[in-house]
Amino acid sequence: MKITHTATELRQALKNQTNIAFVPTMGNLHAGHIHLVEVAKQHAQCVVVSIFVNPLQFSVNEDLATYPRTLVADCEKLKAVDATIVFAPTVAEMYPDFDGDQLNQTMTITPPPIANALCGASRPGHFSGVATVVLKLFNMVMPQVAVFGQKDFQQLFIIKQLVKQFNLPIKIIGVDTVRETSGLAMSSRNGYLSSAHRKQANQLNLALQHIVTQIKSSTPQNNNLDFQQLENEASARLEIQGWVVDYFSIKSALTLDSASSTDVRLVVLAAAKLGNTRLIDNIEFLR
Ligand code: PAJ
Repeated sequence: MKITHTATELRQALKNQTNIAFVPTMGNLHAGHIHLVEVAKQHAQCVVVSIFVNPLQFSVNEDLATYPRTLVADCEKLKAVDATIVFAPTVAEMYPDFDGDQLNQTMTITPPPIANALCGASRPGHFSGVATVVLKLFNMVMPQVAVFGQKDFQQLFIIKQLVKQFNLPIKIIGVDTVRETSGLAMSSRNGYLSSAHRKQANQLNLALQHIVTQIKSSTPQNNNLDFQQLENEASARLEIQGWVVDYFSIKSALTLDSASSTDVRLVVLAAAKLGNTRLIDNIEFLR
């Protein structure tokens, strides 16, 4: 496995590769990330994994400074699953004109309005930062396939739009969320949880499952379910358990617009805080 830190080193390492699958990450790798690498390996001989904590996708009051950086351990895990190349650039390598706290000199992507809903509503600029860094990474790696987790459903949705709207010849593959046995979605941010909060962290997934059960037990034709009411009840139950809910939302999985009673392919998404830790999760399902 080759570890590279600059675009030049990366291109050198990729010189003779024609079939490349790419897994972008921010590191602090867990079983969810590793599963993406395993899926990538099914699609190409050469698997590139990037590890880069992207300052552009963090708001000023977020955890950029404390986000766990564990490159050595990450590389060991990637070697164990036979990744081909790790790309771990510096901020200066990725953003030659980014001075640390202003973006004036950095060209960015303005994503479509869906980027301002859900996570984008409380994280302004987040998906512009994600789309910008992913496009830059795509330009450097030039993969045929790129693999993303469904755990970040809205992110995956926006990346698919990016690829379509920028005419990129890259196949995007979405992979199911890897969970702890409790149902908690694996996340680098789970490491922030106190032991008490960790014990109750699966409540977010339970709340999503509850909504799915409620919706599935109704039918689109014979529907008198009020989605807004379901969302409000789920939020209220979580708040009683000590969460601060950012959103709890039932959407069309095809468009991420508000779900109508005739939509069949749905996704229920939530973001909520336990203490200072913001967790997200979602379940996509058919009615
Ligand atoms: P990061 O949070 O490190 O996630 C990297 C990839 O792993 C994403 O595609 C994410 O959806 C996926 N992932 C995270 N937890 C997962 C889980 N439990 N099961 C399956 N997949 C999971 O997402 C980012 O980094 C960044 O925004 C990035 C795309 C790298 C751009 O900076």
